[in-house]
Amino acid sequence: MTSTPVPPVLVTGATGRVGRVVIDQLLAARVPVRALTHRPEAAATLPANVKVVTGDLTVPESLDAGLRGVGAVFLVWTVPPATAPAVIERLATHARRVVFLSSPHQTPHPFFQQPNPMAVLHADIERLIGASGLESTIIRPGMFASNTLFWWAAAIRDHGVVRWPYGAAETAPIDERDVAAVVARTLYEGGHAGGDYVLTGPESLSQAAQVGIIGDVLGRPIRFEELSADDFRRETEGSWPRPVVDMLLAAWAATIGRPAFVTATVSDILGSAPRSFRQWAADHAAAFTSGVR
Ligand SMILES: NC(=O)c1ccc[n+]([C@@H]2O[C@H](COP(=O)([O-])OP(=O)(O)OC[C@H]3O[C@@H](n4cnc5c(N)ncnc54)[C@H](OP(=O)(O)O)[C@@H]3O)[C@@H](O)[C@H]2O)c1
Repeated sequence: MTSTPVPPVLVTGATGRVGRVVIDQLLAARVPVRALTHRPEAAATLPANVKVVTGDLTVPESLDAGLRGVGAVFLVWTVPPATAPAVIERLATHARRVVFLSSPHQTPHPFFQQPNPMAVLHADIERLIGASGLESTIIRPGMFASNTLFWWAAAIRDHGVVRWPYGAAETAPIDERDVAAVVARTLYEGGHAGGDYVLTGPESLSQAAQVGIIGDVLGRPIRFEELSADDFRRETEGSWPRPVVDMLLAAWAATIGRPAFVTATVSDILGSAPRSFRQWAADHAAAFTSGVR
């Protein structure tokens, strides 16, 4: 007796923080994978047993070859919104389902309810997906633990001092490996069509406490020096996009005095607890000492 082959999953954002781990998880579940990149040279960073396809989300027709014959798509959108309608239309022509990496913009916690251009983009794409006829699962992680690499790793390596605003603001950082594990489950396990999942790490931690945990893990104290919002704006001028700075400052300010929003969704879907921030920091300690990620 012959069994019907499983159609491949097209993973977009395949070279990114979440997509790269989604690929490993799908391969472990014996799901055939196609990995999309718009930089052909990036193929070298992907596993040898993955079919790498070149395509650019800003050039919708460039996706056709990679989409032919796929069953599902993991969609990560990191480009401007203009081509989203044409891309979703193409996904719906080729695939039966899509799992979209969004954000918790519908969650009624002040942290998620501040002006946020990314949230507007995510909501627009969700509307396009809703109208497309695709079966969909929407994944809404909160703050990624790995944001702290971009924010603090160089300062910790260079001076052991983190100068940052809103040290008392609490978030529930999630390990990207947990986001990826949930994404992969929703791609290869039945029952997730129509799923809408807000994912967080296991505990609410102030930003200053997160810096303290990194110090514990490294075995040396790291000083947290509170910056005013204006100083933060000044210090990031020219190196960070202003809308991102404003979005973060508004979210941190709005959450002062409240614990972060925490869900049990990772445990519910995976059957195991999400990784703690301490675990994440231990697994990435080298990035805070030598810069190796
Ligand atoms: N950071 C957070 O705290 C957070 C929280 C919730 C949600 N999110 C969402 O997570 C998403 C980012 O995921 P991530 O962190 O895994 O990504 P990432 O590490 O920032 O990587 C970006 C990915 O986008 C791909 N990409 C860039 N330009 C492209 C193009 N023109 N065509 C096709 N692909 C392109 C890159 O692939 P190539 O360069 O190889 O093509 C890369 O794989 C965003 O939508 C963000 O809003 C982030």
